[in-house]
Amino acid sequence: MTIRIRILLDFLAVGLFVAGLAYWWQDNLTHEVIGTIFFALLIAHNVFNRRWYGTVKKGRYDPPRTLNTIVIAGMAISMLILLGTSILISQDVFAALALDGAFAVRAAHMFVAYWALVFLAVHLGTRWQMVMNVTRQALGIKGTSPLRTWTLRAATAIVAVKGVLATLEMGLGTKLRFEYALDMWDFNESTLGFFANYLSIIGLYAALTCYGLTFLRERKRRKA
Ligand code: HEM
Repeated sequence: MTIRIRILLDFLAVGLFVAGLAYWWQDNLTHEVIGTIFFALLIAHNVFNRRWYGTVKKGRYDPPRTLNTIVIAGMAISMLILLGTSILISQDVFAALALDGAFAVRAAHMFVAYWALVFLAVHLGTRWQMVMNVTRQALGIKGTSPLRTWTLRAATAIVAVKGVLATLEMGLGTKLRFEYALDMWDFNESTLGFFANYLSIIGLYAALTCYGLTFLRERKRRKA
């Protein structure tokens, strides 16, 4: 499969993940179907990237590579817990395999989802340069343009500010501490607002990671 299609599938997975967070916007079956397609995409994603796993023990680790590896391990652990708990609390798609009245498992499922969100954002940030390169090629963009660069930077700044506000509004810090995991967003009031909030949260942490890595690489290049 071409890298362009793979990246399109990655973005589809991001959309499905955020849709999964909007549990109270759907009925249970829809949530489970969205989650099942999401996990099918993740399995395919790991099959496409299987060679990476063979390189983990080889070569030297500088800070960017160390971060990349820790984040992929965090992704793997959080997504496996999310998948395992999904099956145990399923009411529709995997109901035959589920446990009865598994309240602790349900709480774990909701808790780990927000950690998976953070890992997802940072993971996207570590691969962002590649996403940009593939997008440039797909759009036939050659060379640089200050106007384009500054437009993209301004868009990133807007998303980042929105991401900070959304982090506070959605109580992400509290959710990550497992203090209050149920999302009581009022979808009758605004559905778009929910998606804009979580997508900007992903954008914020991805951008911080991407700029952080650029800084580290630049520092290494200057030292060399
Ligand atoms: C919605 C979830 C995810 C998104 C948006 C995402 C995004 C990406 C992107 C854009 C790339 C580079 C292009 C590509 O190969 O497709 C990538 C590479 C990779 N991803 Fe993911 N990913 C996700 C989930 C995961 C999970 C759950 C794992 C591990 C369990 C994972 C492991 C990897 C690995 C091993 C690579 C190759 C890394 C490298 O070459 O340095 N990804 N991911």
